[in-house]
Amino acid sequence: MNRLQHVGVFLTIVVLFLALNACGTAQPNQPTFGQLANTGQSVYATYCTECHGANGEGITGPAVIGAEANLVKFQDAHKLLAYVSAAMPQNNPGSLSDEEYRQLVSYLLIANQRATGDQPFNPDELALITLLP
Ligand code: HEC
Repeated sequence: MNRLQHVGVFLTIVVLFLALNACGTAQPNQPTFGQLANTGQSVYATYCTECHGANGEGITGPAVIGAEANLVKFQDAHKLLAYVSAAMPQNNPGSLSDEEYRQLVSYLLIANQRATGDQPFNPDELALITLLP
């Protein structure tokens, strides 16, 4: 190996080390349920109230907030997000962005006391939030 190759190998190792280190320590920019729900509440008001009511009490659509809501059938927050993303708003299914669906579901989870405002929203751990009684 000549001198230049040595330098090359050394630099490669330095770059790999820095890259690995960045992976290990970087904090993903993770919002909380509360932050998402703040926007989620207005997204809900725009797209959902006409059928589910201003307080989620249900009109032509079923209740989605409170004692009358029957979200048990979705079992967990991951499945709820999947359903809402695919099927709602019923008059234009799937028309909102992924971010808006996350905001909506955060709003529903907090309103139904299944998440707290300061809880970090981790998309990989939604299945751990149960909707069962
Ligand atoms: C045009 C009316 C309409 C709009 C707008 C609408 N929904 Fe629905 N939604 C329904 C109906 C009807 C059902 C029941 C569908 C079924 O059981 O197959 C439903 C079901 C649901 C459910 C499951 C509740 C249950 O008990 O089955 C959730 C959660 C939900 N909607 C959330 C939303 C959200 C969030 C929005 C706003 C993005 C929205 N919906 C917009 C009519 C609507």
